This record gives sequence, structure tokens and C-alpha cells, in this order.
Amino acid sequence: MSSIAILVTYDLFRLDEKFIVDELRRRGVDFKLVNLDSLMFDTESITFSDPDNIVLMRSVSHTRSEVFSKLFEEIGLLVVNSFNTIWIGNNKFLSLVKLARAGVPVPRTVLAVNESKAVEAFKMLTDGSSPVVIKPLSGSWGRMVSLVYTNEELRLLVKHRQAMENPYMKIILLQEYVDKPNRDIRVIVVEDRAVAAIYRHAPSCEWRTNTARGGRAEPVRIDRDLEEISVRASKALGAYYAGVDVVESRDGYMVLEVNVVPEFKNVMRVTGINVAGEIVNMLLRLAKR
Ligand SMILES: Nc1ncnc2c1ncn2[C@@H]1O[C@H](COP(=O)(O)OP(=O)(O)O)[C@@H](O)[C@H]1O
Ligand SMILES: [Mg+2]
Repeated sequence: MSSIAILVTYDLFRLDEKFIVDELRRRGVDFKLVNLDSLMFDTESITFSDPDNIVLMRSVSHTRSEVFSKLFEEIGLLVVNSFNTIWIGNNKFLSLVKLARAGVPVPRTVLAVNESKAVEAFKMLTDGSSPVVIKPLSGSWGRMVSLVYTNEELRLLVKHRQAMENPYMKIILLQEYVDKPNRDIRVIVVEDRAVAAIYRHAPSCEWRTNTARGGRAEPVRIDRDLEEISVRASKALGAYYAGVDVVESRDGYMVLEVNVVPEFKNVMRVTGINVAGEIVNMLLRLAKR
């Protein structure tokens, strides 16, 4: 009988992946590092590794993480996060629907596919005293996330989107603007625990707080409500682990999104908490099941 190995699959080897690999090495865990670029699958012999192995999917590409996680599952491997979780997580609207249905407070969001519906949605979301947030259906690092204040701006933005090649970009999410302090919270959840969290402050010239946009970070003491909402959010997507983006609205915490292939190096650096170690513990628990 062969032993269970952990396959760390990636395409861009970031610090996050390095921390996981260092942790696996330190513990003497049997693991393989698999560059997705190096793989080839053949319908004539569709096997990949021992079916007992566990795959940690760390691709930065939405398309690749979907395609490969589904393929690995088809071969019989347990994939973390699962294809289903990755698929839902890569679709902001579907994620918000799942969250809302699980009782997680989220900003009201409307999906629209043409200009007249977008204008209608805009009216539903603001009385003119606050802007509306426009997002793509799928995306990260705050790209293509913008604020719209007037109908004219909105019509222009929708026209730009309709002219884009990528059909996904023609689908528009309009979201209620959450009046929040100039920061949001990134919580790393591993199974049923919020293991670490940071505040991300927006840089002075920005309203988006993504650390990829140069925001400053600082550790958060995780209170009961924050723990509860972030674990519930991760579970709503069926994630083994996730990076949950939380904002502090006037009515309490709200979840903006759940990252299903989360970056956590900044959380580790700022809090000193060994998030990679927690992820490895989770993988070892899964291997025992
Ligand atoms: N509805 C909103 N109200 C206020 N700020 C928002 C809202 N949506 C997004 N933001 C800000 O923009 C950033 C990027 O939005 P997000 O939905 O997380 O997209 P991405 O997946 O690209 O990170 C968030 O971290 C937050 O600071
Ligand atoms: Mg985000």
C-alpha cells in the first residue's frame, strides 16, 4: 500500500506557496510540487497519481484552477478547494447568492446584462446620495472595480464593457456602496476556525483596500462576530480554507467576497501567525480521513 502524498499544484510560485512547501518539508510530509505547466493528460491513459493523494490547488488563474481541479476530481483525487467551491468562488454573483442564502450579510447586488437593466438597477441601489459599485462577475486585486455616481457615468461604463471582447465583462454587477471606515478586514479561515485577520487600509488616493493596490495592513483581534461571519461565509461556499473579505458597515460586519485560492503571505507577515502551518495541519487531517 502506498502512503498518501500531498500534491501542491501551482503555476506562479509565490511566497504563499513557498511558505506551504517550507512547512511540509519541516514536518517531513511526503509531498510533490507540481507545476501545472508541466502536465499533459491523455484520454488513452487518464491517470495522474495515486488516487489517495490530496491536491492543493494554488493556481493563480481562474480558468486553470477550474479546469484542473475538475480533472483531478474526475481521476478520483481530493482537491482543496474542491472544483465546486472554486467554481462558485470565481463567480462573484453566485457567491453572494450563496452567502445571502446562508444568512451571511452581504451588500445588495444586482446582475445586469444590458444598459437599460443596469440603469434600472442603479435606481434600485441609490437615491443619488451615494455612489454604486460596479464589478466584473469575476476578478481579483480590485481590477475593474469602480464607483459610479451618475446615470451618465453608468451608461458610459456599460458601453465600454459591452465593447470588450471577453463575454464575461459584458455581465455587470451593480452593488450597494457600503459606508465603511477607510479599511476592510481579510480573515483567513481554515476549516471551522478564523485563524488570523488583518485590517487593510486604503492608500490615500484610493477607495479600494486591496493590499495589491498598496494598502497598509495591521493585525486584527478576531471577535466572536467576526469569527462567526467569516466561518459561516467559508462554509457557505463549501471551502476547506478561504480568505474572507469583511467590511464594517453601520449595521455590523458584511462579507464582500470569499477568496477560494487565497493569498495569505501578508496576513502571516503582519500577524506573525503561521497560516501556512494551519493549512498544512488541515491537509494532514484530510489525509487521515
Ligand atoms: N460595495 C462596496 N462598498 C464599499 N467598498 C467596496 C465595495 N465593494 C468593494 N469595495 C472595495 O473595493 C475592494 C475590491 O473589491 P472586491 O469585491 O473585493 O474585488 P476584488 O475581488 O477585485 O478584490 C474591496 O476590498 C473594498 O475595499
Ligand atoms: Mg477583494
